Amino acid sequence: MQTLVVVGTQWGDEGKGKITDFLAQRSDLVVRYQGGNNAGHTIVLEGIKYALHTIPSGILSENIMNVLANGMVINPKGLLNELKKLEGRKYHMRISDRAHVIMPYHMAFDAIRESKLKDKIGTTKKGIGPAYTDKAERSGIRMGELINPILFKEKLTEILEHKDSLAKLYGEPLFDFDDIYHTYSDYANQLRPFVCNTSKLINEAIEQKKKVLFEGAQGTLLCLDHGTYPFVTSSSPTAASVPLNTGVAPWLIYGAIGVTKAYTTRVGEGPLPTELFDEKAHYIREKGHEYGTTTGRARRVGWLDLVLIKHAKRSGGLSGLAVTLLDVLSGLDELQVCVGYMLNGNLIDEVPGLIEDFKACKPVYRALKGWQADITQVTAYEQLPDETKAYLSFIETETGLPVDIFSVGPDRKQTIIVNEIF
Ligand code: GDP
Ligand code: IMO
Ligand code: MG
Repeated sequence: MQTLVVVGTQWGDEGKGKITDFLAQRSDLVVRYQGGNNAGHTIVLEGIKYALHTIPSGILSENIMNVLANGMVINPKGLLNELKKLEGRKYHMRISDRAHVIMPYHMAFDAIRESKLKDKIGTTKKGIGPAYTDKAERSGIRMGELINPILFKEKLTEILEHKDSLAKLYGEPLFDFDDIYHTYSDYANQLRPFVCNTSKLINEAIEQKKKVLFEGAQGTLLCLDHGTYPFVTSSSPTAASVPLNTGVAPWLIYGAIGVTKAYTTRVGEGPLPTELFDEKAHYIREKGHEYGTTTGRARRVGWLDLVLIKHAKRSGGLSGLAVTLLDVLSGLDELQVCVGYMLNGNLIDEVPGLIEDFKACKPVYRALKGWQADITQVTAYEQLPDETKAYLSFIETETGLPVDIFSVGPDRKQTIIVNEIF
């Protein structure tokens, strides 16, 4: 495949950063296509841990191009801080002139809204929702405008008038034009050399038969359209959103690998049908270090839910799976896997559209035998215990998708290819 999408199939934090970094070694371009610094993508390379939020996870592969595409919302300060941490490393990066800029008022309104909500979403408070709201409302500032001092001044003046009237309504302090203008102009000066028409860049690369990897943030169940609305983010992490969010024809996207944690986690509010509250949750959380990369919050933990994976396959398109954190399940006697839900006395195998129905879903489990062996040193499928093989083949049979990759530890080296796909 010349192009491939890396997409989360659950509620984020499936190990997309790790899989993207691994596949980046075989790529010419890595393109992040949505979200912003609400994401936290962890890569471990030669014992060093990198936490990326805005920068594509191809950045540690020196000779490839990393693209922040038009579908993203970019916090310039966050991005510059991330770049600082890469000082001394060689990298190539471009930012779409059409990507939207996260402004201080976006972060302020994200926090204000959360504080007022009765049924909280549990956002990362990075201003993601308000930035995409402004994009849809056509009052956003795009990177191309940020780096044009005259346009930026005009837009900011007009927008702050409106934002100040909202701040007054909420009884919050007004926004300081001079402060924002000068700070953001300084960011603009530092980022200007990276800004260009990235759709053109990606299309030219595809024409030249280069390999392009698209990196999603979040996961399908956090998708604005196909996720557990309203407990979702404000963009679409699915492969289906890649053409729009990058400026590439749909027929140039050849496959999508669904990154799937061997169990389920969720950070933030909203239903999680297979959620565990007992000592098994504690065991998995501590062994898997299930604490958020972006906010440090403890992640909620549950059994693997294959209804979600089938939903991700159906609604966004998947050609195969990468099963991650498989090593974390070592040491458990029995594993439960959700294959359907009971809803109002009926057995269903889909994610209901109404959040009230999803909340009422009770998981239907199949029990599988666990394995005791430490699998973190495994380097080939054949070396896995029989029970682990059975776990993977159960996933394949139920979802109708091949497990192309599996992962047995956080390091780049602990990634095993089963089928050569890219
Ligand atoms: P992302 O948001 O999908 O990129 O995932 P995160 O980086 O937020 O969370 C995944 C966490 O699991 C990170 O701490 C990774 O270092 C870690 N990780 C990834 N793959 C594996 C694996 O196979 N085994 C273990 N034990 N940890 C993993
Ligand atoms: P990565 O890319 C896990 C969750 C938040 C919240 C909801 C909305 O690391 O997988 P937002 O700030 O986007 O408006 O929050 O979405 N969320 C994530 N959860 N991983 C992420 O990204 C997430 N990005 C957002 O916790 O429930
Ligand atoms: Mg993450």
